[in-house]
Amino acid sequence: MSPASTTELSPKKLKREVARRRTFAIISHPDAGKTTLTEKLLLYGGALHLAGSVKSRRAAKHAVSDWMEMEQQRGISITSSVLQFEYKKHFINLLDTPGHADFSEDTYRTLAAADSAVMLVDVAKGVEPQTIKLFKVCSMRKMPVFTFVNKMDRYGRQPLEIIEEIETVLGIGVVPINWPIGMGKDFKGVYDRMTKEVILFDSEGTHGEAIVDAKTIQIEDPKLATILGDKGYAKLLEEIELLEIAGEPFDLEKVRNGEQSPMFFGSAMTNFGLAPFLKYFVEMAPSPEDVKNPPVSPTRPDFSGFIFKIQANMNPSHRDRIAFMRITSGRYTRDMQAHLLRENRTMKLGYPQQFMASERELVEEAYAGDILGLYDPGYFKIGDSLSTGDPVEAREIPRFSPEHFAVVELKDPLRRKQLDKGLNQLSEEGAIQVFRQPHVGNQTIVGAVGILQFEVLKHRLEHEYNVKVLLRTLGFKHARWIGGEFDEAKFERQDYTMVLKDREDLPILLLRNDWALNFVRNNEPGIKLLTNPPGT
Ligand code: G4P
Repeated sequence: MSPASTTELSPKKLKREVARRRTFAIISHPDAGKTTLTEKLLLYGGALHLAGSVKSRRAAKHAVSDWMEMEQQRGISITSSVLQFEYKKHFINLLDTPGHADFSEDTYRTLAAADSAVMLVDVAKGVEPQTIKLFKVCSMRKMPVFTFVNKMDRYGRQPLEIIEEIETVLGIGVVPINWPIGMGKDFKGVYDRMTKEVILFDSEGTHGEAIVDAKTIQIEDPKLATILGDKGYAKLLEEIELLEIAGEPFDLEKVRNGEQSPMFFGSAMTNFGLAPFLKYFVEMAPSPEDVKNPPVSPTRPDFSGFIFKIQANMNPSHRDRIAFMRITSGRYTRDMQAHLLRENRTMKLGYPQQFMASERELVEEAYAGDILGLYDPGYFKIGDSLSTGDPVEAREIPRFSPEHFAVVELKDPLRRKQLDKGLNQLSEEGAIQVFRQPHVGNQTIVGAVGILQFEVLKHRLEHEYNVKVLLRTLGFKHARWIGGEFDEAKFERQDYTMVLKDREDLPILLLRNDWALNFVRNNEPGIKLLTNPPGT
């Protein structure tokens, strides 16, 4: 077979390939069941033949990278990766995002590469803080959001209560595509409002290891009253009627504009509700072509893409660095040349990988919508744009100024070089930011958005760079780059501020608390306090 790179790409084929892409992320609060749902989606996509327990998936992740043992110990997902699978002729890119609040920065970046999101809600807990934060990022981009209410095999809130909460807290209309019949021990299944049939929940079946063959029954079928009991059946009919009369009608255009969220109920643990969810999701979720106001048409024959995430040492035996690229137009072919806009140079995009469950596969070609992991000897930065033909601006990637700061103290001074290398690489990944304190012998200071990132930093420095450090946290809350006239000495003498230099040698001001921030704002009208470096 001839290599893919030499085959002609017809506009028809490009259109067809782009049309079957779905690229999405799951947003949720820790413990809502994201790991379980991800695993089950892979099971339904045929990427995992028999899903193990969540624990064994965590163990498998552990084998991929040694630093993830922290994730296993803590039961949180630190890294975000990309998983790909096919479902009913659709090619799905699932961006796996970390669930813990402290890693939200990475999650926000990952959302920039997604075209839609699945918001996972625990039926007992409803909308939780991390979900609200992530939803806001999606709504800023008017991204379509699908809601999956999980853990229906447990008792929780009433579905109408959850709908109301989502509508008031998140400000988005909700349209249930299916409707639950009971919950917890009395969970009987869901009513599909589109097909008007009931999908029955079988609690005696496999416990989520294999795909369930759901039994369905028409709503008018007299047998349903026997199954649900006369009272249960009457209640269901009443609820269906209420939804028809009082509920918002489904409107695909509104979904695509991020104004309406289709809602599904199920139980990821027992696999219930996954097939109906996937069936409608692939129909309703936008392909790259359906995304509103794209910076470039995905079916433009010329290739373009942008880097949204960099991760070093994913595999300890290779010590490699992977740059994750979202393709925004055209086709990628293995080892192709593309133009790196920031440096105005052409380079080979080598060793492309896609990720199926815990395995990596080399790819020959990929299309707009796909995510690729590129081998990166240190060429790329987050936000880089790559293209053939006319250059394309990268999608905007949200940036956040750090809120936690610590002095780095090296236990063995002879390992300075390794420390610098480690800090350099980890800051290029965007996990931390590195500063120096010019007035105190250029002491190294690290800044992070979440405090847990310091623990990750310590762990990774020790395991990946063989460097042991102590991190002495500093009592500052804000960091601001400076625009305008700035008298460094004046701020250096204050107790409520500290002056640092970033890696480009730009001055950055740490402020102890909200009072300090307001004080400088009000009393120094000549300087501008910026949350991002000037010019970015
Ligand atoms: P996360 O990635 O969002 O943090 O959540 P994760 O999938 O790890 O799930 C958190 C807990 O919720 C796990 O229980 C998991 O088994 C459970 N869970 C997920 N989906 C469902 C569901 O549909 N129904 C029920 N009843 N439970 C569900 P755990 O006790 O923390 O772990 P494990 O011992 O079950 O592995």
